[in-house]
Amino acid sequence: MAYAEFRLPTQTVFGRGCFKQLGEQVTRFNPRRVLVVTGRKAMQRTGKLFDAVQQLRKFHPVVFEGVEENPSIETVDECAHLARECKADLVIGLGGGSPLDVAKAAAILATHTGSVLDYLDGRRPLKRSGLPFIAVPTTAGTGSEATKAAVITDRCARVKKVLKSDWMFPSVALVDPLLTVSCPKFVTAAAGFDAFTHALEGYVCLKATKLTDAINERAMELVWDNLSRAWRRPRDFVAREAVMLGANLAGMTIASTGVGACHAVAHSIGGKFNVSHGETNALLLPHVVDYNLGAARKKYAVVAELVGGKHANDLPRLIGRATKKTGLRAHLSELGVAQTDLAAIARDSFRGSMAVNPRKATRAGIVRMLKGAL
Ligand SMILES: [Fe+2]
Repeated sequence: MAYAEFRLPTQTVFGRGCFKQLGEQVTRFNPRRVLVVTGRKAMQRTGKLFDAVQQLRKFHPVVFEGVEENPSIETVDECAHLARECKADLVIGLGGGSPLDVAKAAAILATHTGSVLDYLDGRRPLKRSGLPFIAVPTTAGTGSEATKAAVITDRCARVKKVLKSDWMFPSVALVDPLLTVSCPKFVTAAAGFDAFTHALEGYVCLKATKLTDAINERAMELVWDNLSRAWRRPRDFVAREAVMLGANLAGMTIASTGVGACHAVAHSIGGKFNVSHGETNALLLPHVVDYNLGAARKKYAVVAELVGGKHANDLPRLIGRATKKTGLRAHLSELGVAQTDLAAIARDSFRGSMAVNPRKATRAGIVRMLKGAL
C-alpha cells in the first residue's frame, strides 16, 4: 500500500500585516548583505519596495528590479550574477510569481556556476543548497512562496522550462493578504484562477493523496467563495485574506502532486505568446475539465458541488461563467493564438505537469481541446 506523504520545509507566516516582520525574519539569518528582487513598477509605485528597503537598512540591501512577466533565462542569469557579484548571503523575492521565481532561481544559482540554462529541466543537477530565500508574495495565486520550482522562459526555443530542486523551497514565506489590496482587478482575477487551477489540478491528478486532497478541497472553497468579492471590492480585507489563504494552501500541495494538462498547455502557450499565466489557465480550465471528465468523474463531482453545481458535467460551464464574470477572456484567439499555432502548442505541451494528468493525453486530443478553446 502506498502511504500519503507531504513535505513543506518552508516556514510560513500568514496574516494581515506580517510584512512588517520582514526585517526581524531576515535578522535570524544574520546576513551581511541582502538582495531584493522585484518587478517593474508595482512595488515601486505602491511604496512596498521602499518599505522593504527601510526594514532591511542594516543589511545593505541591493535591489534587482525590472523582472518581466514570464521571466527569461537572461533575466535570471543577470539576477544570479548580481547575487554573486554583490556577495549577497540572502535573497528576498517581493512581488507576483515572476519576481518570486527569479529570486528563487537566483538564490540557488548564486552557489553554482554557469547559466540557469545548464540546469533547466534537469539538464544538470543542482548540487548544493542555495542562499536562504525569503518569499513575499504580493498577489494571491501563484503559490510560488510554497513551491520548490521556478518557471523560466527560453525565448530562443519559445518554451517555458522549469528549474526545480528540494533545495529551492523558500526558507521563509511571509504571506500578508494586505499586500494584495493594491492589485489591479485583472491581476486579482488571473492570479485567483491560477490558484483555483492549482487546487483543482492537484486534486484530480495522479499523485493526489488524502493529505493533498484535504488541503485542495479547502483551497478551492476559499478561492471560489471569495474571489469575486475580492475582485469587486479590492479593499474587502476578509475576502482578500480568504483568497490568499486558498492560494497559499494550493501552492503548498504543488511540490507533492504537480498540476496537470491545463498548466502543461498554458506553459506551452506562455512560451510562444507573452500572455498572462493565470488568464491562460482560466481560459483553458473548462476545456481541460471537459477533456478529463471521464478519467476523474467522482472527484470532479465533488468539486462541482463545492462550486454550486450538482454533477461533474456542470463544472466546465460553472468555471467558464465565473472567469467571464471577472472580465477574463474566454478564447485563445483573443490572446493572439491562431489555428495554425495549435499543432506546435500541443507538441510542446508534453512536458512536466502533463505526466500527472488524470487522463493520458494524446497530441491529437490536445489539438481538439485547443480548437474548442480557440
Ligand atoms: Fe500556475
